[in-house]
Amino acid sequence: MRKTMLIKNGHIVDPSQDIDGIGDIIIEDGKIKEIKLKGQGSKTKGQEMETIDASGLYVFPGLVDMHTHLREPGFEHKETIKTGTLAAVRGGITSVCCMPNTNPVNDNRTVTEFILRKAFDEGSCNVYPIGAITKGQKGEELAEMGMMREEGCVAFSDDGMPIMNGSLMRRALEYSKTFNVPIISHCEDLSLSEGGSMNEGALSTQLGLRGIPYASEDVMVARDIILAELTGGRLHIAHVSTEGSVRLIRQAKERGANITAETCPHYFTVTEDAVKGYNTNAKVNPPLRRQKDVEAVREGLKDGTIDIIATDHAPHHKDEKLLEFDRAPSGISGFETALSLSLMLVHYGVLTMSRLVEKTALHPAKILGIDKGTLKAGSDADIAIADMNKEFKVEQDKFISKGKNTPFEGWKLKGMPVITICKGKVYDCRKLIGG
Ligand code: DOR
Repeated sequence: MRKTMLIKNGHIVDPSQDIDGIGDIIIEDGKIKEIKLKGQGSKTKGQEMETIDASGLYVFPGLVDMHTHLREPGFEHKETIKTGTLAAVRGGITSVCCMPNTNPVNDNRTVTEFILRKAFDEGSCNVYPIGAITKGQKGEELAEMGMMREEGCVAFSDDGMPIMNGSLMRRALEYSKTFNVPIISHCEDLSLSEGGSMNEGALSTQLGLRGIPYASEDVMVARDIILAELTGGRLHIAHVSTEGSVRLIRQAKERGANITAETCPHYFTVTEDAVKGYNTNAKVNPPLRRQKDVEAVREGLKDGTIDIIATDHAPHHKDEKLLEFDRAPSGISGFETALSLSLMLVHYGVLTMSRLVEKTALHPAKILGIDKGTLKAGSDADIAIADMNKEFKVEQDKFISKGKNTPFEGWKLKGMPVITICKGKVYDCRKLIGG
């Protein structure tokens, strides 16, 4: 017998179909069957099917998170595919792309296959691996992108080990055109950031920490834009954090460059002030910047310069974050706060709900060329249901993720995911509590 479910009376937002109104969604065997908007045709009868009453709630495509770290294989003490994907689901995320900085590095089809098999066996949401551009992320020799692509990689990146050799980056962009996949660039000039552990400025001097100048990001954004224009390759710029990057990307887009860009909730929410007291949970790479950068990132989201929001979920073990600030690893555990922090943009009037759904679901799916980020009939029922007005207190001890490293501990946010549906399977986010 077919399994049918009804999501009733929710405020449905699906920019892929220009839908923004109250209605019902019918799901059959894990796929979207139909959307009936209020005032269009007959009412849906829900007596014989499992029904979710979404009155007063937003219903939209589950988030497609293009930039995450699931840490498996190799760093299972930080996170596993099992814990990471369940944490994602708690955050309204239904698809994640995982970066290749595992051990071994995902630079060949065997590792890609391992990740996909684990995700199939133990995962709660869809997992799309990102392969390394160079063997071992060493920046010396291109990896076998073709084979990894065949196995299921959706993009390539050397993540936090940026390719310093411009000629190699040029070849990577050229090579990736063959497979029509994006090259994701973590823009950092290592010679400028070397030894730094926070944003360079008065505060880093005060704290006695070596700083990472904004120029370390801007210089590489400029180089990679130029290389993308030279090659026609598809460049995706990861985690934009500076005013200068936003400006460079905006200018490049005005020229028609084939580039896309992402930022993360922490870059549009907090400044470097969060590291005061040597709070290692606010240590991230690129580092948290100044208020004018936060504002520029918000402006970039608003005017379309920045196409997507991703978490850069980077879980670390608490013992590692207990090290001295300059020795602790960089990264923020982002799955379980991302949607609430993003909904704040709607509260502040930076984005409409529809623009937000574009940036969290539709655009990433398009960039990756995957059939997600939409509620069109026939698509997998990957859905987030959120309460815009519910207060949510960030409590790291309740994170499902093994990574409790959040700079938002104790923050009260307005808006939270309440139900996530992944391929028709229903998760009640309020009952998913870790420890
Ligand atoms: O903060 C970060 N953490 N930035 C990166 O580029 C890598 C990531 C990680 O893997 O922990």
